[in-house]
Amino acid sequence: SPIEPLLANRHIVITAGPTREEIDPVRFISNHSSGKMGYALAKAALALGAKVTLVSGPVNLSPPAGIEVIDVVSAEQMHQAVMKVVANCDIFIGCAAVADYKPQQKTQQKIKKSNSELTLTFTKNPDILSDVAHLAQPPFTVGFAAETQDVAHYAQDKLKRKKLDMIAANDVSQAGLGFNSEKNALNVYWNNGEKNLGVADKSQLALTLMTLVAQRHTEKMSS
Ligand code: PMT
Repeated sequence: SPIEPLLANRHIVITAGPTREEIDPVRFISNHSSGKMGYALAKAALALGAKVTLVSGPVNLSPPAGIEVIDVVSAEQMHQAVMKVVANCDIFIGCAAVADYKPQQKTQQKIKKSNSELTLTFTKNPDILSDVAHLAQPPFTVGFAAETQDVAHYAQDKLKRKKLDMIAANDVSQAGLGFNSEKNALNVYWNNGEKNLGVADKSQLALTLMTLVAQRHTEKMSS
């Protein structure tokens, strides 16, 4: 009989890319995420037989064929889009580099240069990953952790604090890895295990990580 693909009949929601937080009509703050890791995960999930919804911040990547893509700009918009589609999904993966803070108010007019210093006040954005994991019936929830120091410690702390099933940590202080590069290095943690996926192309890492996610999800369902 034909072998069922690992993620057959599973609906996976993935976030990817940066968010942009507007300051005035011509300026925003953002980060270096290219979306490559999240898009690679979406393609890997599709290849393993899943139905995939990709909620994407502004990136320069073409939408992958066979994947539903919802384009958003800000963290608020990404939060809204995710909460709308996540209700009946099986697995959620937060790979987006979501801005933790946004300017308290977007000014209607361009901020003019003056002779004095400029101070901006920021307020907190909603935490998408944490809100998904704290739903009454959450999907299998996977987070990412981008750290520049104490990677394992911060990743395991996020795993517990945000009630995640799994977290993939990348050390973004290493040149040529992580943000806006072809390669990455991931260490994956769950409540009683961990796996070092090493350094590899994002497409290769995505397949390895999706396979691990599928296995852990199946184990959780049958326990
Ligand atoms: O896009 P690329 O250029 O390919 O780079 C990939 C990547 C380095 C961006 C990716 O691998 C990665 O690490 N993504 C998460 C980046 C991040 O914002 O990490 P964090 O440690 O600040 O956030 C932890 C987790 O909470 C993440 O899953 C994040 O999606 C989520 N989060 C954070 C803040 C927020 N307001 N809402 C969230 O959902």
